[in-house]
Amino acid sequence: MIKSVGIIGWRGMVGSVLLKRMQEENDFSKIIPHFFSTSQSGQDGPIINNTLFKNLKDAYNINLLQEMDIIITCQGSSYTEKVYPQLRNKNWKGYWIDAASTLRMENDSIIVLDPVNLNIINNALDKGIKTFVGGNCTVSLMLMALGGLFSNNLIDWISVSTYQAASGAGSRHVIELLKQMGSLYNVVSEQLLDKSYSVLDIEKKVTRASRNKNFPLENFSVPLAASLIPWIDIEMKNGQSREEWKGQAETNKILNLKKNILIDGTCVRISSIRCHSQSFLIKLKKDISLENIKKMIVNHNQWVNVVPNNMKETLCNLTPSAVTGTLKIPIGRLRKLNIGNKYLSAFTVGDQLLWGAAEPLRRMLNLLVDI
Ligand SMILES: NC(=O)c1ccc[n+]([C@@H]2O[C@H](COP(=O)([O-])OP(=O)(O)OC[C@H]3O[C@@H](n4cnc5c(N)ncnc54)[C@H](OP(=O)(O)O)[C@@H]3O)[C@@H](O)[C@H]2O)c1
Repeated sequence: MIKSVGIIGWRGMVGSVLLKRMQEENDFSKIIPHFFSTSQSGQDGPIINNTLFKNLKDAYNINLLQEMDIIITCQGSSYTEKVYPQLRNKNWKGYWIDAASTLRMENDSIIVLDPVNLNIINNALDKGIKTFVGGNCTVSLMLMALGGLFSNNLIDWISVSTYQAASGAGSRHVIELLKQMGSLYNVVSEQLLDKSYSVLDIEKKVTRASRNKNFPLENFSVPLAASLIPWIDIEMKNGQSREEWKGQAETNKILNLKKNILIDGTCVRISSIRCHSQSFLIKLKKDISLENIKKMIVNHNQWVNVVPNNMKETLCNLTPSAVTGTLKIPIGRLRKLNIGNKYLSAFTVGDQLLWGAAEPLRRMLNLLVDI
């Protein structure tokens, strides 16, 4: 029977990317969609395949939500925290698919990334698990890039430095970053045209503007434009940020490993708009040739590709501006480090709104509509 699917958070960035991908893949022909909103119930919803969905349903109305066979939400953690327990307490037996982190580490939920853990998802479906959650964006992108090394049990440990885009934090943050960039440009726009100004005078004006009390800081709380922020998410007791903690915790849950692979590093917000980049230092379990490493990586899934370790191809193919809006997972800068033959360095870029968020959820929905 064709399933009723409640869609929540479709107006946000992850939700918008999800709707676009669902239209591209003709997913709406397989479901009866119902659009909900936390802030606009009664108003017009999205236009899907030239049809306007009118009269948005109230995303807090538990009775309406209970009528859904599947709920897919990209609304965020506070929505999940509020609504999910109420629904389950009312004995709702439908499938819940979620982009937020709230339920990821629960025993009765599965973190979904089917090119990496389809067998675990299928086992869970057989056991009657009903809650499926997308992973942290950097974790999913790392697993898509390094899946071949994980599946061949080659990784001893990983140290990672991330370079995460503003959009990873949500819509309001992207708008704020662009406002910050605009206001920095505005204070020096005339001087940029006048060759007599020294670059250091221009830098001084820009720095002063970024420290001015009127600089837009409501969401990031400090300047991101012309700067960076080496902290993402809340503080953990051990000195990690929660984003850093997720690296090891979620990877081992996604892969369902008995013995944890150790993963740690520093997560940094940078001023790219979209796409997260990551630099890895990987300790391999054995010395294996770079050629074999590349083969294992590209054989793992159809989206990953190896960028040859030279300047021209790295500049053309391994940057957020080259990857944004695509499902490609390029991995490059692959080389053995001077430290020793078991030490590999790698750099990857991936669109965190696609493989890092919307795409695993869309593919999970497709697994469920076929049940
Ligand atoms: N962004 C990422 O890269 C990413 C990656 C992985 C997971 N996630 C998770 O996915 C969830 C959603 O993230 P998101 O980045 O999509 O959040 P978002 O863009 O901020 O959207 C979330 C909700 O905010 C409301 N909203 C407020 N101002 C808006 C505006 N100007 N434009 C659009 N929507 C606006 C909308 O709800 P109403 O329509 O009801 O007002 C929307 O559904 C979060 O739990 C996040 O942690 C995000």
